[in-house]
Parts: sequence; C-alpha cells; structure tokens
Amino acid sequence: MPSQLYSFDSTEWLRNDSRRTAVGVDLDLEALDWCIENNMDKVGADGYSRISLFHGNVLQPLEAKLVNFESQEIINNIRSKDCKDDSESNELQSAVQVGSSTSTDDMYMKRNVQLVPRDIVCAFNYSCCCLHKRAELVLYFKHVLGVLSKKGGIFVMDLYGGTSSESKLRLQRRFPNFTYIWEQAEFDIIGRKTRISLHFHLQKQQRKLRHAFSYSWRLWSLPEIKDCLEEAGFQSVHFWIRQMPDTEANRRTEGFGAGRDIKYEEVKTFEQADAWNAYIVAVAN
Ligand SMILES: C[S@@+](CC[C@H](N)C(=O)[O-])C[C@H]1O[C@@H](n2cnc3c(N)ncnc32)[C@H](O)[C@@H]1O
Repeated sequence: MPSQLYSFDSTEWLRNDSRRTAVGVDLDLEALDWCIENNMDKVGADGYSRISLFHGNVLQPLEAKLVNFESQEIINNIRSKDCKDDSESNELQSAVQVGSSTSTDDMYMKRNVQLVPRDIVCAFNYSCCCLHKRAELVLYFKHVLGVLSKKGGIFVMDLYGGTSSESKLRLQRRFPNFTYIWEQAEFDIIGRKTRISLHFHLQKQQRKLRHAFSYSWRLWSLPEIKDCLEEAGFQSVHFWIRQMPDTEANRRTEGFGAGRDIKYEEVKTFEQADAWNAYIVAVAN
C-alpha cells in the first residue's frame, strides 16, 4: 500500500537504472510474494540485492519485518545458469518452498536495515483509501516524510473521484484474453466509505474470479489529502488531474476505451466531472 514502490513500480524503477534501489511495505505477505515471483525476473541478476520488501503496517513501519526471499534468489541463479535437468530444478524448488516467503524474525526495519533517504515514495492504486481515520493518514504521511530525501524527495499517490464514484457502479472492460470488472457496491456519504471489488473473467480458461480483490475504502477528497500532507510537514502539494470517460456512456468498453490519450495536467482548480483520476505530488522540502 501505502506500498512504498513495490511490485511493478519497484521493478520498473530498478530495471531502468542499475544504481537504483527500492523498498516496499505491505500488510499482505501474499502481495509481496507476488511481486517476487512475477516481476523480479525483469530486473536482472542483481535485482534481489537492490530491493527490500517489508511485511508490516505503514503506521508502524519500524516493526515491519524484512521478507526473506533468499530461497527465490537461489532458484533464480540456478535457472539463469540454464539448468537443463528439469527434475533437478523441481527438487530444488520444493526444497526451498518457492512462493512462500517468510518474514524473518531478526530483520525488523528498525534494526539491521539502513534506509538511505529516498528520492520517491509511491502509494498507488488508491492505497491511501485503505486508511479510514484522518489521524492515521497524517501519521502515515509523517512516516513517509521521515524517509524522504530533503533534497527534492517526493511522495506520489493517486486518487479517483467524480459524481460516479459516490454511488453504486459496475464498469466492464474487455481485453483480448480477459474481462475485468470494477464494482462499487455502495457509498456511505457520512463516512465516505465504499466497497470496491475487482472481478476477472478469464476467457480461455473459462474461469471467473469473483472478488479477486476487495477493498473497504474511505474515499478521501483532494483537499483532505492536501491538508493532511501539509499537517504532516510537506512543503508543497501539487495536483495532476485528468477527466475519465463518462461512466454512464462507457459501462462496457473494449480495452481501455475512449479517452486513453487524455493527458494529466497540473491544475489549481478543476470543475467536478462524472469521473476523474488524480496524481497528488507532495514535495518534502
Ligand atoms: C489497493 S492495493 C494497492 C497495492 C499496491 N499499491 C499496488 O499498486 O500494487 C492496497 C494494498 O495496501 C495494503 N495495505 C492496506 N493497509 C495497509 C497498511 N496499514 N500497511 C501496509 N499495507 C497496507 C493492502 O494489503 C494492499 O496490498
């Protein structure tokens, strides 16, 4: 979540420059495992030495435990040596339990792990909405500010909104191999709480994955986020927004549908729309 650059973002970051390092935090060990299993092969041989994934709560980051993926690294090295004997590699895989990373007991973020000031922290896919209380949001932002470089470090997160985001909604996107459904089950205007489910239909396998992801979110507003960032001590906050295709006219689309090329623009004001998406950029110093 409040992931600090993990999964796809982290591996892209690492892939583009061999001097870069990345740190990720998530409450969900499965999500961290997924990153290791599905994205690390794109980074290159030294990828494992440049990424640290922590299993823990962003509200108590120092308690987060380093995920041990040594075993995965061993397997990878062997694979890259072009191990031709499949049985040998299978045996090894079962011996070191691929895909079941564990948090090591002795590698908490507060000990052993030296965190250099970070240039960029990201919390994408609307992760800030997982935190429901204002005090939690401010605490999280303070922790982020604490790890950012004071020489131009930035914190980037995304948020969606618009009139369609505050009611029940079901949007279907059809891709060649699968269909993806975004479902908003309800919207409570007192707590601004919503329940989002992502369903997938895999055409080839004729499989439906209902509720592949489900989230209980508080849909924060942009000024609430800005106020919390400033309260946490960020120097300045910038909004980059783009309007999204009208949800009424685009309940079912092929691929990303119309409007994919509309650019994000930095704005000071933005007229309410049916749907919009925003990147919030907070500058540390
Ligand atoms: C919407 S997902 C986004 C995942 C990730 N940011 C990405 O882009 O792939 C939200 C993630 O936040 C994690 N999460 C929620 N609350 C958290 C917390 N307090 N500390 C750490 N992770 C948290 C969840 O486990 C989940 O993986």
